Amino acid sequence: MYLRSFIILFCIAFIIDACTAQKKITYEFPDAMSEPVQAEYTRLCEKGRVLYEVNCAACHTKKVHGKMVIPEFTQEELGAYSIRIANATHEEQVSEARVSAEELTLITYFLTYRKKDKK
Ligand code: HEC
Repeated sequence: MYLRSFIILFCIAFIIDACTAQKKITYEFPDAMSEPVQAEYTRLCEKGRVLYEVNCAACHTKKVHGKMVIPEFTQEELGAYSIRIANATHEEQVSEARVSAEELTLITYFLTYRKKDKK
């Protein structure tokens, strides 16, 4: 009986740890973007974040010193169509059949506007 509670507690602790390993993500938009537009983009970026987790994170998010780190791609690399044909792995894994054009656009919003660590 005790053992079972212990195992359950251990699992809960593990899940909480896994969820907090990645810092809370916030977004940074150009000043020229009005508040309502920023609010809308935040919503789109959050959708993109989930799509990134599902479609891209397995290959691109790396654990560095215990923290999950998302790569800082350049704007050039993030051109939505160029992602599809960037390399042979992508031609298969990021094909239209797996990630729609709309989904890929949301993912690039997420990768573009998420607040990056200051260097
Ligand atoms: C099966 C593994 C895999 C998946 C899934 C994957 N990638 Fe990649 N990606 C790679 C590899 C391998 C490279 C080339 C080496 C590198 O830059 O890490 C790459 C390179 C890139 C680059 C740089 C391209 C350039 O111009 O040099 C971008 C941007 C990128 N991936 C974005 C994404 C996005 C967005 C997704 C999800 C829609 C994704 N990748 C899904 C494996 C993957």
